[in-house]
Order: sequence, then C-alpha cells, then structure tokens
Amino acid sequence: MTVLNINETRAYIDGIWIGAHNGETFSVYNPANGETIESVADCGEVDVRKATEAASRAFKSWSRKPAKERAAYLHKAAESMQRAEEDLAKILVEECGKPMREAIGEIRYGASYFQWFAEEAVRAYGEVIPSNSPANRFIATKHPIGVCALITPWNFPNAMLARKAAAALAAGCTIVAKPAEDTPLSALALGKILEHVGLPRGVFNLIPSSRREEMGAWITQDPHIAKISFTGSTPVGRKLFELSAPTLKKLSLELGGNAPFIIFDDADLDAAIDGVMASKFRNAGQTCICTNRVFVHASIEETFANMLTERVAQLQVGSGADPNTDIGPLINQRAAEKVSSLVTSARSEGADLLIGGARATQGELFFEPTVIRSVTNEMKIAREEIFGPVVTLISFETDDDVIEMANSTEFGLAAYMYSDSVKRAWRVSEELDYGMIGINESAISNAQIPFGGIKQSGQGREGSKHGLDDYMEIKFRLFGSIS
Ligand code: SIN
Repeated sequence: MTVLNINETRAYIDGIWIGAHNGETFSVYNPANGETIESVADCGEVDVRKATEAASRAFKSWSRKPAKERAAYLHKAAESMQRAEEDLAKILVEECGKPMREAIGEIRYGASYFQWFAEEAVRAYGEVIPSNSPANRFIATKHPIGVCALITPWNFPNAMLARKAAAALAAGCTIVAKPAEDTPLSALALGKILEHVGLPRGVFNLIPSSRREEMGAWITQDPHIAKISFTGSTPVGRKLFELSAPTLKKLSLELGGNAPFIIFDDADLDAAIDGVMASKFRNAGQTCICTNRVFVHASIEETFANMLTERVAQLQVGSGADPNTDIGPLINQRAAEKVSSLVTSARSEGADLLIGGARATQGELFFEPTVIRSVTNEMKIAREEIFGPVVTLISFETDDDVIEMANSTEFGLAAYMYSDSVKRAWRVSEELDYGMIGINESAISNAQIPFGGIKQSGQGREGSKHGLDDYMEIKFRLFGSIS
C-alpha cells in the first residue's frame, strides 16, 4: 500500500502546489512549546486572483457532473481521511495543541462530513408545484451557487474545513479556502487528501496567508466568488458582511457563542457534571459551542460546586502529545491573556475562586482548569465568550429567572439544560433563544444536525440536509402553453 504524504507548506492553486507569488512565508508555531513547526506560503492578492480564476474555470464541468460522481470523490475522501487519521491528528496536536484523543476525534468528525455529504449529494431534490392554470407547469430545481470562499478557524482546523468543503463539493460548487494563520497545516494536509482522491484541477484551492484583514478585503471584492462561509468571531463576521454588501455575496456565518448550561433541581447531577466536563473542557474550552455560563438551581448549587471541583481537580494539563493530557495549551498569547484578564475581572467583581485561576506551570500558554462561584450574569466573564478552561457558576431560583438570564446575551448559538421533567424540558427549551439545544446531553455535534446559531451568532446552517442547501440556489421555471 502506498503511504500518502500529507505534509505540505505550499499553496494549492489550479491543481498545483506552489509558493506564494511574492515568495513570502510565515511561521507556524507549536502552542505547547513555542517552537516553529513550519514556514508556510504567505499568499497575497495575486494568489487570491489565480485561485478564484481557477475555481471559476473548474466550476462549469464540476457543477455539471452527475451528483453520484461527485459523491464518489467524497466517499473516497472520507476513506482516505480515516486511513490517514493518525498522521492528520498528529498535525492537529502540533499546531493546535489538542490532546491526541481529541485530535483523533476531530479527524473522525471531519471525515463524517465527507461521508454525510456524499450521501446527501444525490438527494438535492427539486419540486414540482401544482400550477394555477391548465396551460402551465411549475418546477423549482436546485443549482450550485458557484465559487465559494471558505474561511476556517484555528480551533477545529480539520473538521470545520471538512464540514464546509464537503457540502460545497457535494452541491457542485468549487472552492477557494483560506485557513486560519495559526493552523494552516491541517488544511494543507486535507488538500493533499483531496488531491490524492483525484479531484479535478481547480475544484479545490487553498491559499494560506498571514494577512487576515487584506484577505477579507480581497475575497469579498473578488467578482468570481458567489458565496463566503466563515467560522470565527462575531466582529470579523460583521466585517465580512459589510465588505460583501457591494457584490451581494451569499454568506454563511458561524460566529461567537455564550452558551448557558442550566441544571435544574430535578436533574441527574452525575449526568450534568459529565455534561459540563465534556462541553466546557473540550479543546481546553476553545469551542464556539462551549459552555460559557453554568446556571445551577440555588438548592443544589453547593453540592454541585463541590462535585464539579472534585472532577476538575483530576484534569491533567500538558502537551497534547502526552497520552494522559486532558487540557492542552491555549492557541496563542492573546488568548491566554484574555482568559487571565476575565478571571481577574470576575474576582475583582466579587466571584469566588474554587480551583485554578492562573496560568499553569507547563508553559506560557497553559491555563489551569478553573471553577469560579458566585458569578452574576452581569459580570464581564458572563457577558463575553471565555474561550478557555474556566467554569463560571451562577445560581438561580425560578425557571423564568433562568430563562431570562440565559437569553440575555447578544449570542444565540448553543444552550444546554438538564432536567428529569419532560414538561420543563419542552417549556424551557422552547423559550431558549438558541440555534441548538442539548437536553440532558452536551455532545450535540455531528454531521446529521443543522449546526448554526441565531442573533449575533450568525446565519446559515452546516451539516444536515440544510447544510447542502446553503451552497445551492433555487431556480424556478414556468413552462407555459402546455395545453
Ligand atoms: C466550533 O467551535 O465552531 C465548532 C464546534 C463543533 O462543531 O462541535
């Protein structure tokens, strides 16, 4: 069996691996030790144009391929990812800092999107609509939107590109992808996989770059690009929205969150603790759907706080390469400073520290798993996305109070609630203003679900059948004079 080399540092444009036009490179660092891993092509405007022109040329034939043929490429991509999962996961551990176990989980998660959209590609059904006249026939069909720019984040550098690319390719779109500058190597490795499965040239292009802001401008101004799918912060999402107005690009935005995790007095406390641990500490708390505020009913708050602190004390902080590690480093200095300052601010506003609360000794970017109690919904730490391994406990008395507190944020991505009452689960979940709600379960992510938020958490859905629709337009045709 041939061994697939997935290590790459160049851009991928029109089926060719190539350095940036200006010859420049940027460094990628290992957040666990600060060492340089690689120097990667630093693409500029000329590279963007070359990539979008290639994607535009490739669109005609790719979009006309029978869906079944496109699906076959996606099935092969899923299989190749599964075969290369250990190598792909090692890249994630190095550039993103994830524990190996989580990195393997992310590669499987990414592969599952290729699998899912291979299966959905052949189901992009249209509609025959009863017409208003015996002479007319109405038909609505779905068509790929065109060249799509995929701008992907550093926290799931493989799975978020896989989630977008698989849907776009299944729909018949072609792609220009710009991975986050902290973690471009996972995207380049995925590019190697897609090259390996024989995707026609120009269908998938990759332009790593350290020039975040200029890239946003070049991509939004480019006339070849019909759609942008972005995962990242709400301020950057707003900027892309604004910059896309002159060319009216279609936008899918998966933005920030401030997830409430509500534990009622009738909840199974062991299950709720497991839920908080899984949701809060995944990727060291650096997930858009991570629990940000834990609301606990006042009557069980003390018991819950003690149980949780005991569990948090068992977490092992360390390099992702160590098989015993639960919590890796934060992605960069900016992230570590933000988490530190939010904890300091909460303490100065009157919150009590139960465990953790400081940078860990393992290295500059490591932060101790932390639990803070007596937090209020008005504190800065409850209003902002923490993006770090910090649990904030807020106590509540009534269902109505907690619903109001949970909803009082500009964000609306994910929420979680634990209760053994079916009535309460229906009523409360109906009133929570969030795009995704986990009831007695916090592991909500998978390829089958419509992943996405409301309010300032964005627009559009990824995964599920809706994820395919996000890359398609509806064309209506009226056939007249039939009878
Ligand atoms: C994210 O953090 O944006 C994605 C997490 C997930 O898909 O579960």
